[in-house]
Amino acid sequence: MQKEYSLHSRCGSSRIFLDEGLERLGPLAGGRRTVLLTDERVHALHGERFPEMEVISIPQGEQAKSLGRATLLYQEMIRHKMDKASLLIAAGGGVVTDLGGFVASTYQRGMGLGFVPTTLLAMVDAALGGKNGVNLGEYKNMVGTIRQPEFVLIDPSFLQTLPRKEFISGLAEVVKYGLISDPAILDLLEGKDADEVALDGDLLAEIIDRSVQAKIKVVEEDEDDSGVRRILNFGHTYGHGIERLHDLSHGRAVAYGMMVALALSEKLGLLETGVREKAMRILRQLELIPDIQPDRERVMEIIARDKKRRGDRIAFVLLRRPGVTEIVPLTPEEIAGHLEDTDL
Ligand code: GLY
Repeated sequence: MQKEYSLHSRCGSSRIFLDEGLERLGPLAGGRRTVLLTDERVHALHGERFPEMEVISIPQGEQAKSLGRATLLYQEMIRHKMDKASLLIAAGGGVVTDLGGFVASTYQRGMGLGFVPTTLLAMVDAALGGKNGVNLGEYKNMVGTIRQPEFVLIDPSFLQTLPRKEFISGLAEVVKYGLISDPAILDLLEGKDADEVALDGDLLAEIIDRSVQAKIKVVEEDEDDSGVRRILNFGHTYGHGIERLHDLSHGRAVAYGMMVALALSEKLGLLETGVREKAMRILRQLELIPDIQPDRERVMEIIARDKKRRGDRIAFVLLRRPGVTEIVPLTPEEIAGHLEDTDL
C-alpha cells in the first residue's frame, strides 16, 4: 500500500514514499536538471525503468566509497553543468546512497538530493537518517556530513533482483528494529525462513514499513548519534569487530553482535527470560547465524579502538525486553569475562 512519511530533523526534512513507483521521480525532480547516480548492476538490471535523465554509473562495491571516487563525481557534475539548484538522485545500496549523499551535500556546498534504495539494507537503514560519507583507507565513514535527502522513494520491486545473500543480510537490520523498537516485527518474522519472507509481498511491505517507522522515530529523537540514536548500534559494536576479522556479510556480523549483546544483557540480569531464545530462533531460521569461532581477544582489541569508545569503557547497547534498550558502559575485560562461559 502506498504511504508517505516525513522525517524532520535539524539537518533538514525528508519525504519518505513507501511502495512507490519510479514514475514519481519526474514530479519530484520538478523540472530541475537531474543526474542519476547508480551502480553498474542496478543500471544493467533497472536502468530502463528510470525516467529519462543523465546517468553516472559507478562500479559495484565498497571501494567506491572514497574521496577519489567523490572527486571523479564532482568532475562529472561540472561536465553535466550541475549547480546548486540541480538534483542528484542516488539509486542503489548503501554505498551509492552514502557516496551520493556526501557528493550532493558538498558539491557547491549542497545541491538537491533524493534516494532510491534498491537493497533491503538501504531501504530500512542506509537511505534514512541523513548520515553520509566515504571511507579513508581502512577507516570507515571517516569523512562525511549529516544531511537529510529531500525524498526517499522505496519501491520494493527492486528486491526481486537482489541476490539472496544480500536480502538475508538486510534482514538482520529488520530483526534489530524488532528487538530495539517494534516487537511486532519479531512476531511477524517468527517461524518464517528468508525465502518465505522474500516471496510474501504483504509481509515484506509490512516489515519494511515498520522498520522505516522505527528508524524515523529514533532519528527524529536524536540526530547526531550522541543520545537515543546510539540504540541503532545494537549488535553493531561487536559486529563491526567481527566484520573486520571474518569474511562475512554485514548482516551476519551484526547478527553475531546481537547474539553477544543479548548474552551480555542476560548475564547482567537485564533481559526478560525467553527473549534471547526467540531472537536466536528467528536469526537461525533466517540463516543469519554465522558458523565462526572468533578470536575474542582480537575482537575486543578492535572494539577498544572503535570510535564509540569513551575512556576505558565501551557504550554497549543492551536490551531489557523487546523495545526497551539500555546503554551500559563496559570495559573490554568485563565483556570478555561475561562471555567466558558462552560459546560466543
Ligand atoms: N544514512 C544512514 C543513517 O543516517 O543512519
